[in-house]
Amino acid sequence: MKRMAVLTSGGDCSGMNATVRAVVRAGMVEGVEVIGIQKGFQGLIDRQYDILTTRSVSNVLQRGGTFLQSARCRAMLTPEGQQLAGENLRRLDAEGLVVIGGDGSLHGGKELSRQGIPVIGIPASIDNDIAYTDMALGVDTALNNIVRAVDNVKDTASSHDRTFVVETMGRNCGYLAVVSAIACGAEHSLIPEQSFNLDEICHNLRSRYREGRSHSIIMVAEGAAKAQDIADQIKDRIGFETRVIVLGHYQRGGSPTVFDRMLGARFGQAAVEALQNSQSGQMLGLACSQIVLNPIETVLAAGIRPIDGLLSQLNQRLSI
Ligand code: F6P
Repeated sequence: MKRMAVLTSGGDCSGMNATVRAVVRAGMVEGVEVIGIQKGFQGLIDRQYDILTTRSVSNVLQRGGTFLQSARCRAMLTPEGQQLAGENLRRLDAEGLVVIGGDGSLHGGKELSRQGIPVIGIPASIDNDIAYTDMALGVDTALNNIVRAVDNVKDTASSHDRTFVVETMGRNCGYLAVVSAIACGAEHSLIPEQSFNLDEICHNLRSRYREGRSHSIIMVAEGAAKAQDIADQIKDRIGFETRVIVLGHYQRGGSPTVFDRMLGARFGQAAVEALQNSQSGQMLGLACSQIVLNPIETVLAAGIRPIDGLLSQLNQRLSI
C-alpha cells in the first residue's frame, strides 16, 4: 500500500487528533503516505484534502477537537453522495480509508467499503453508544469534564441546601449520566434506557433532607428528559429549591485524558496495520483491554450499545 486517507466525521471528541497523529506516523513508518480529508465526508465530496506530514501532526496530541475539522454530512446519506465520495477517493489513488466517528460515520464507511474501498472504522463518540467496543474515543475525557463540573456544583449545592439537576449529553444512551453519577456520588441518574418514577425520587429526596443531608445531585441524560422540566417538577411536588446545569458542548472539548490519548495511539496504529493486512469494512474496538476488529455491518446491526445493568445498580446501592 502506497497511500491511504483519514477523516474525522460527525460530532468531534477529544482524542481525535491523537488518533490522526498515530495514523499518520504509523503510516509513515510503513512507507504509506496519508491524506487528511477536511470536514469529514463533506470534505471528501467537496475534494478538500492535503497530504499529512510529521509536521502536520506535531503538537496536536494534547488538543481537543479535530484539526481536520468535522461535519455531519447529509449528502453522505444519499447514493449520489456516496458514489461521489468513492470516486474522489479513487481519484486520489487512496488504497484505504480510516473513518473516525460515531454510528453515522460508520454507516458512511460501510457504504464505501461496499464499493470495494478498504475501510477501517474507529469508534469516536462521547455518548459511548457504539456496540462492540467497551469504550469509544472521547468518552473518558467527557466523563472527566462532567466530574470536574459536578464536583464544583456540589460545593455550592451543599452551601445552600439545594438540589441540582445536571444534564449530560446522550441522546439515546445514558452511559455518561450513569457513570458520572457513580463517580460524583449523585443520588439519581435518569437515562433514556430506563423509565423513572419522579414520585419515588421526590420521596427519596425528602427522606434525605430529613436525615440532615445538605444537598442532592440528579444526573439526567439529554435523551431521558430536560433537566429544567425535572427541576420544575421537583419544586412543584416537594417545594425544594432547585437549580439546573446543562453541560452541553462543554463535555466534548478539552485536552484529552491519558486514556483517550492511549486509545487514539492504539486505534491509529491498529488501523494502519489492519489496512496493510488487507482488512476492510471492519471497526476497531476495545474489548477487555485488547484492540479487536469486528465487521462494521455487525456493529451497526447491533444498534445502541446497552448500558451494563450492574452499573445502574451500583449507583443505586452507593447513593443510599
Ligand atoms: O453524538 C454525540 C453528541 O455529542 C450527542 O451527545 C449530542 O446529542 C450531539 O452530539 C450534539 O450534536 P451537535 O454537536 O451537532 O449539536
